[in-house]
Amino acid sequence: MKLVLLGPPGAGKGTQAARLIKDAELMHLSTGDMLRQAVKDGTETGIKAKSYMDSGALVPDGVVIGIIEDRLKTDGPTASHLFDGFPRTVPQAEALEEMLARIGSNLDKVVYFDVPEDVVVERLSGRRTCRQCGANYHVKFVPPKVEGKCDNSGCDGELYQREDDRPESVINRLEAYIAQTSSLIDFYEKKGILCKIEAAKEPEAIYEDVKAALGM
Ligand code: AP5
Repeated sequence: MKLVLLGPPGAGKGTQAARLIKDAELMHLSTGDMLRQAVKDGTETGIKAKSYMDSGALVPDGVVIGIIEDRLKTDGPTASHLFDGFPRTVPQAEALEEMLARIGSNLDKVVYFDVPEDVVVERLSGRRTCRQCGANYHVKFVPPKVEGKCDNSGCDGELYQREDDRPESVINRLEAYIAQTSSLIDFYEKKGILCKIEAAKEPEAIYEDVKAALGM
């Protein structure tokens, strides 16, 4: 199975991905996580990506397509993937289609999280992320048991605010989404594989809708 999670920054893609990868046994391919790891490791890709990410702009298509292409080769044609935050432009969507066709595969469904802008701004401004394991929290909606510390057993990592969750970057990310990513809703609707989920509600209620849309 190959699925895409589509939606504005802060729509809850990562939150729902964490549930889906467990229940549907999918490999999680989050280009945001992969790029943040590359920045942390100081790789050539990370050095190229950092300034785009900090300002809230999209990283050039060639860089992210290359990352996904490498990963598809490593995982092989039969792997089940959950693409989170990729594709984000029409050229990325076309490249994904071609890469999958080359290995005799295709996308099964695209889950689109529909959330109003004021909701995503509130979610992003309160998000805290674990430095060790990458788990996401929210100061109001998903608070950790101990302030500033990750709940995951054996982790105990420090929680921090992502550079691109600061207000100036959030505005740029929303603009980039509208200008470069939102056309993918129509792109996938025309292909008949888009499932639209109303995502301005509790995470559990959203997950029930996702499972129903995917026939799980
Ligand atoms: P990326 O990491 O993909 O960021 P994003 O798409 O902006 O998504 P987020 O991680 O911000 O949000 P999310 O939808 O996963 O929400 P989450 O579940 O965390 O990308 C970062 C950057 O990398 C990009 O700006 C770009 O520069 C670059 N990049 C990545 N992919 C790229 C690509 N393909 N092409 C080019 N550049 C690329 O939830 C957010 C918060 O809300 C959390 O605090 C969470 O606890 C809370 N929350 C979640 N659901 C709910 C709910 N239902 N109710 C209340 N609170 C909730």
